[in-house]
Amino acid sequence: MSMRKKDLLEIEDLDSIEINLIIDTALSFKEILSRNIKKVPTLRGKTVINLFYEPSTRTRTSFEIAGKILSADVINFSPSSSSLSKGESMLDTIKNLEAMKPDIMVVRHSTAGTPYFMSKRIKSGVINAGDGFHEHPTQALLDFFTIKEHKSNIENLKIVIVGDISHSRVARSNIHLLKKYNVDLTVLGPRTLLPAEIEKYNVKVETNLDRALEGADVVMALRLQLERQNEGLLPSLREYAMLYGLNNKKLRNVNDGCLIMHPGPLNRGIEIDPEVADGPFSVILDQVTNGLALRMALLYLFTGGVREREITA
Ligand code: CP
Repeated sequence: MSMRKKDLLEIEDLDSIEINLIIDTALSFKEILSRNIKKVPTLRGKTVINLFYEPSTRTRTSFEIAGKILSADVINFSPSSSSLSKGESMLDTIKNLEAMKPDIMVVRHSTAGTPYFMSKRIKSGVINAGDGFHEHPTQALLDFFTIKEHKSNIENLKIVIVGDISHSRVARSNIHLLKKYNVDLTVLGPRTLLPAEIEKYNVKVETNLDRALEGADVVMALRLQLERQNEGLLPSLREYAMLYGLNNKKLRNVNDGCLIMHPGPLNRGIEIDPEVADGPFSVILDQVTNGLALRMALLYLFTGGVREREITA
């Protein structure tokens, strides 16, 4: 089993066969996480470099643990203590890292397109761990994995994404992924935080929370990027919490067993109240565990792809 491509740059690159392969592989790797000794030799001799130019808790740590469980050597490259601080360019940096023969580089960067820029210039595989406002494909895959684990039939589920759709790479990747399946997808947020080109996504758009949540099977809250307040895009955090923040009262008309999701980190009391985040229908920490299994699958499948090309070359 392997991927035919060397990189994971965006969800649109993946077809449903590849998505199913990734999810099935993640499911099989998840069993390892319940073992007493969480270590298998699958990626022995492989090297993974994590290049995170932006902060991260879940994504960076889970890629690191995923690689280590699979026995890969994982290097966390720290931009602030590297020669980037002496003026070395991004291109020279990745070329020099590539000269050390890693199999995969996992990159997060504030500039959209950075993973694409890298993939065109280096032979190692590149996995996008979030690029600007563009995409966060591994988050959408772990979200999809989590939904599939809880809901036997994904088709016709009513899924609602609430929050700052404009600036959210998580929303963008989830929309692209969920639109590949026959789900009933609604996005919701203040007009100032909905993309101007929202029609092209072919999703339902709502500005009223009660209407959007009626009959929902999955509700995905997004992190409110607090810096948007300084850009005049939000009247106040209090008003945002009142209109768009999730609490038990606002969720009264969702379907039984509705999943509550959030990619993290949480702004408790703004986009989600603790009673919901820590409540019985929250799968927020399941998402984190599934993120680990999913990233194990990605490291396995994408390094396998490299190996296959070498054999057939
Ligand atoms: N969901 C997510 O990307 O979290 P981190 O920023 O902590 O990696």
